[in-house]
Amino acid sequence: MDRLIVTGGRRLSGTVRVNGAKNSALKLMAAALLAEGETVIENVPHIADCLTMAEVLEGLGAGLSWDGTTLTVSTQGAHGVETPYELVSQMRASIVVLGPLLARHRRAMVAMPGGCNIGSRKIDLHLKGFERMGAHFSYEHGFLNATAPSLRGAMISLDFPSVGATENILMAAVAASGTTVIENAAREPEIQDLAAMLVQMGAKIDGAGTTTIEIHGVDGFLPVRHRVIPDRIEAGTFAVAACAAGGAISIESARAEHMDLVLDKLVEAGAGITGDDRGVRVAMAERPNPIDFVTLPYPGFPTDLQPQMMALLSTARGTSILTENVFESRFMFVDELNRMGADIRTEGHHAVIRGVERLSAAPVRALDIRAGAAMVIAALTADGATEISNIHHVDRGYEDLEGRLASLGAEIRREPSPWPAAH
Ligand code: UD1
Repeated sequence: MDRLIVTGGRRLSGTVRVNGAKNSALKLMAAALLAEGETVIENVPHIADCLTMAEVLEGLGAGLSWDGTTLTVSTQGAHGVETPYELVSQMRASIVVLGPLLARHRRAMVAMPGGCNIGSRKIDLHLKGFERMGAHFSYEHGFLNATAPSLRGAMISLDFPSVGATENILMAAVAASGTTVIENAAREPEIQDLAAMLVQMGAKIDGAGTTTIEIHGVDGFLPVRHRVIPDRIEAGTFAVAACAAGGAISIESARAEHMDLVLDKLVEAGAGITGDDRGVRVAMAERPNPIDFVTLPYPGFPTDLQPQMMALLSTARGTSILTENVFESRFMFVDELNRMGADIRTEGHHAVIRGVERLSAAPVRALDIRAGAAMVIAALTADGATEISNIHHVDRGYEDLEGRLASLGAEIRREPSPWPAAH
């Protein structure tokens, strides 16, 4: 297992290009299952999670070929309905194949996802939605066995605007008989991207990007060519890194309109930010101001940037308060930041971050994708060389993070770890 060695104190400058959105690409890959033929998805990031989804699709009988970041998914012969634990345990988002499998084959067997590092993430809302549409579930040998002899439109009101449940239900509803209405739907840009591809494939969808999505089921979908939107979380990670390390960077292809609240909060923290159709520029000269923020479903502040912001605010000139409203235990990495000299206390879903003048390098672990990115950001500001282990978590969501930060002037390199990975 690799580790990253980061020596803090270098300011960042230059240009970095943002890749396609992980959380969009994964769902578009699953959606390709709906059409018979070759679906071409452009701008798919080369990250471990997309490779896992590629394995999921291959396991179902699809043929995949890569040409740079363009992925062709060929579904002739994709008659499989089973996704094994080995893959679901590597990436919980594998369960988004449930919707397309029910739509296409009226059955699916997907291993139940285990716990994960950011709290117990349930799938009850996905299942309740499918049940309303006529699906039945049983549990056998760790598998969720789903059948839907007839899949019919339904009124589905989500208790929480879950991203995964909205997408999964959407991908089944496009092929159900009649009309489905999803109320309290998630509004993330990735859902709009998925709906855009589904519409191109022949689906009838109104209201994606709002809290009410109406879907009129159709028969048969065409394979299409679609380009994944830029990754707003990756763009946000680079923006926060520049604010923490100081300096001025351009984040090419970042879409400011997908990052409104994040950019507002960075301005409040002292950054100068400009954006246009080429991307976003971020400059920061001094230690950040303290800020308060709460994470919420889109268009609220994204939970996937909460750890990185916490790393930034660790060296703010005062005390910040943050409230995590999306995941129940997304503070586990705080102990790692405190090992670097941060002064963060958590109680329930609140964290109080008293800014210290400087963090100090220490051996730390990446606990999940975003917590790993937070450790990298903390290390960019710290005194000395920080060793970050369990970097495979970072590789799940970021392609060559160290190479891209190094191109901006950071002192960062990857080394094979002498120790076995600790989870
Ligand atoms: C997606 C993103 C993830 C992001 C999250 C919230 C992908 C691959 N992942 O995850 O990066 O952090 O959105 O923006 O797109 N919940 C239930 N029951 C359910 C489903 C969800 O209680 O059936 C709860 C979860 O436990 C969690 C909250 O709802 O507390 C949000 O989950 P959800 O929006 O579904 O996130 P994911 O789709 O898993």
